[in-house]
Amino acid sequence: MAERLLAVSEAQLRKKRGMKWTRYSADILSAWVADMDFPVAPVILAAITGMLDTQDLGYPRHDASQRVFDAFAGWMRARHGWQVDTANMLACDDVVQMLHACVLTFSEPGEGVIIQTPIYPPFMAAVSQNGRRMVENRLAPCAHQWELDFAGLQAAIDSGTRVLMLCNPHNPTGRVFSADELDRLAEIACAHDLIVIADEIHMDLVFAPHRHIPLASRNPEIAARTITLTSASKAFNVAGLHCAVAHFGSAELRARFNQLQPRLLGGPSALSMAATEAAWREGAPWLDAVMAQLDTNRRTVAGFVTSELPGVRHYPPQATYLAWLDCSELMLPVAASKFFLDEAKVGLSPGGDFSSFTQDHARLNFATSPQILDEILSRMAGAVKGR
Ligand SMILES: Cc1ncc(COP(=O)(O)O)c(C=O)c1O
Repeated sequence: MAERLLAVSEAQLRKKRGMKWTRYSADILSAWVADMDFPVAPVILAAITGMLDTQDLGYPRHDASQRVFDAFAGWMRARHGWQVDTANMLACDDVVQMLHACVLTFSEPGEGVIIQTPIYPPFMAAVSQNGRRMVENRLAPCAHQWELDFAGLQAAIDSGTRVLMLCNPHNPTGRVFSADELDRLAEIACAHDLIVIADEIHMDLVFAPHRHIPLASRNPEIAARTITLTSASKAFNVAGLHCAVAHFGSAELRARFNQLQPRLLGGPSALSMAATEAAWREGAPWLDAVMAQLDTNRRTVAGFVTSELPGVRHYPPQATYLAWLDCSELMLPVAASKFFLDEAKVGLSPGGDFSSFTQDHARLNFATSPQILDEILSRMAGAVKGR
C-alpha cells in the first residue's frame, strides 16, 4: 500500500484531466486545490468498476441513500465515537451546495451569519452571494496554534444574527477544535439562539494526538440546532464524484430545511453513492496508510520551513494536508502566492482568498509524493534565498 502511495510521478499527474494539474503550465508544480495526488482506494475503484462492468448506470436503487446513511453511521461510530440517528439525514451533491442551501433556509436577507476567518472561501461566498450580512470573527494566532476568539464572537453577535458557520477541522489553519472550545461555542450558540452549520468534511484527516469531535455529539441542545455537513470525498480523494451527507440534529431542523424545494438541490449519482458506501464500509486500512504518509509529509514541511525558509512561519496542521504559511516577515512586494508562482514555479493557494487580511499568507497542499514535495519545498527555498 505504502509503495503505491509513494509511486506517484509528476508525468502521471500531468495526464489527469482534473483541476489540480491542468490549471498551470508544465513548468509549475501544483500544490493548491485540496485534492491529493495519491491513487484512489482499491475498494472504491472496485465499487465503481463493478458498476461499469455490469453497465449499472441507470437510476440508483430506491434505498441507495439510506445505504450511504447506514455506512456513515457505522463509520462515525467506529472512527469518531458518535452514535448517529439516520432519521434526519439528506444525501446531497456536495458540501458547498449545502452551505448555500442552509444559509438560505436558516436566515433571511440582511441577517447576520458568523464565519471564522481566515476561512475556506466558499463560506464567504455562501454569505455574501445570498445577500446575508457577513459577521467576521477572526481566529487569533496564539503561541502554538490559531484559536477561536470567544470575546470577539460574543461582541459580534447582535439581535439580527441567525447562523454560525463552523469549519472543524478548520481549513486553512488545520485547527482541530477541542471539546472545551466546542462546548464554549455551543453555549454561545444556544444562548443566542443561533443555528450552526458545521462543515466537518476534514474530519478523517486528523493527526494524533488530536481527535475529531463532532459538534453535534457534545449534547442534545447543540445537536438540535446543528446541521453537520460532511463527505468521504476529502479523505478518500474523490471530490469529482460528488456525494455528501447532511445530518440534521433534530426533526424540527429537517422540517425547516424541507421548505426549500428539494428538486433544486439535485442529488448524488449512483456511482458516487457506491463509492461513498465503499469508503465508509471498507476504506479504513487505506485511509490509515494515507494518514501515515501525510504525517510524514507534514513533518517534512515543518522541518523544512524551520530550517530553510526563514521569514516563513507556520503551525503544523493538526488536521488536513494543508500547510498555512505566514510569509509576512518576508515583506514581499506582491502576494505570497504570486511570488512563489513567479519565482519558484510552485502553484499555492493565495492567502487573500481566505480573508481580507492574509494576502501575505499562502496555503500549501502537501498531499503528494515525498519526491514532488521535496522539489516544491526546495524551489520555494531557492526563490526566497534568491531575492
Ligand atoms: C472546509 C471545506 N468544505 C467543503 C469543501 C468542498 O466540499 P465539496 O466538494 O463537497 O463541495 C472543501 C474542499 O476543500 C473544504 O475544505
